Amino acid sequence: MAQPKKLMRALAGETLDVPPVWMMRQAGRYLPEYRATRAQAGDFLSLCYTPELAAEVTLQPIRRYGFDAAILFADILLIPQALGADLWFVTGEGPRLSTITGSDGLAKLKSAEDVHEHLAPVYETVRILSRELPSETALIGFAGAPWTVATYMIAGRGTPDQGPAHKLREEDNATFEALIDLLTEATITYLSKQIEAGAEVVKIFDSWAGSLKEDDFRKYALEPAKKITSALKAKHPGIPVIAFPREAGDGYIGFAKATGADCVAIDNSVSAVWAAEHVQKDGCVQGNLDPKHMVTGGQELIYETRRIVKAFSGGPHIFNLGHGITPDADPENVQIMLDAIRG
Ligand code: CP3
Repeated sequence: MAQPKKLMRALAGETLDVPPVWMMRQAGRYLPEYRATRAQAGDFLSLCYTPELAAEVTLQPIRRYGFDAAILFADILLIPQALGADLWFVTGEGPRLSTITGSDGLAKLKSAEDVHEHLAPVYETVRILSRELPSETALIGFAGAPWTVATYMIAGRGTPDQGPAHKLREEDNATFEALIDLLTEATITYLSKQIEAGAEVVKIFDSWAGSLKEDDFRKYALEPAKKITSALKAKHPGIPVIAFPREAGDGYIGFAKATGADCVAIDNSVSAVWAAEHVQKDGCVQGNLDPKHMVTGGQELIYETRRIVKAFSGGPHIFNLGHGITPDADPENVQIMLDAIRG
């Protein structure tokens, strides 16, 4: 029998001498081979919806660095598009979507079970990857968390403070909650299909969880993550789930237990020593090197990498950045980080 993959062992709660490692946005613009394939596809969305090319860019960082996991190449905004929202990307600025400002906009969306035809190319990418990945590399599927996806659907773009989403939450809570519920159901069925196609782990990205406070954090970050996790585990017993309630701060404490997630991904606004004490005591954690070190490099990159490995060495840990690697990162710094972890 094949040895269980290192990433799966950490997710099962094993403390490893050398932690498994991968990076958020590991397939991305900092790599020349990614830029070449993206140019071949024409634009970012065509890359997402062309299975052979999406699989190719997923594999590029695995070939170059031998990460312990590959993450499906797609985007959290494909779900709104599958539900009927318009989506396009403005070069140098980011995503744009048609906006949901009230119940009429919500009524025009499709139902959660109707997303699959649109998303079929994503499932095909997963099938290709599960055939082509090296046997030691785990395949991670993913989706955006309902709150984070809703912030883009309501504002029609990324926002610094998620103001329009908070406004709808306050002024038309019924529409807001119906949107969260629709996204929760769509996410369950989307991730379930990714698992059926060959994803071995799924990750839920709640990039804007930090702007939800107190009871709103519980209702709109924690509860949807719990619903998604329990529905997936009921349908696919044993499937590991990584939750990423980014910038949750104290909200990281107890998040795994409360949602049933197997691992909590930690951003770089909290210290590794703090997270080891308060979050890792409940199980596996992922993180949390500041992505800026991939740009600046040098001794500090090595020092910080080793410090994080050491801080989390008493329990299950997946080494990662606290957020995605940026386009200005130096590919050589990634190798320096890997040598500091594995060497
Ligand atoms: O991590 C990976 O390598 C897997 C693929 C992946 C992408 N986006 C590819 C991508 C994943 C997991 C995401 C998640 C995602 N997308 C999030 C959550 C994580 C986070 O970063 O907070 C969010 C908020 C989005 C929405 C999104 N997609 C934005 C705001 C942007 C524009 C900003 C930017 O970085 O350009 C994207 C575009 C995007 N998604 C790119 C990539 C590689 C860059 C597109 C390009 O090639 O031009």
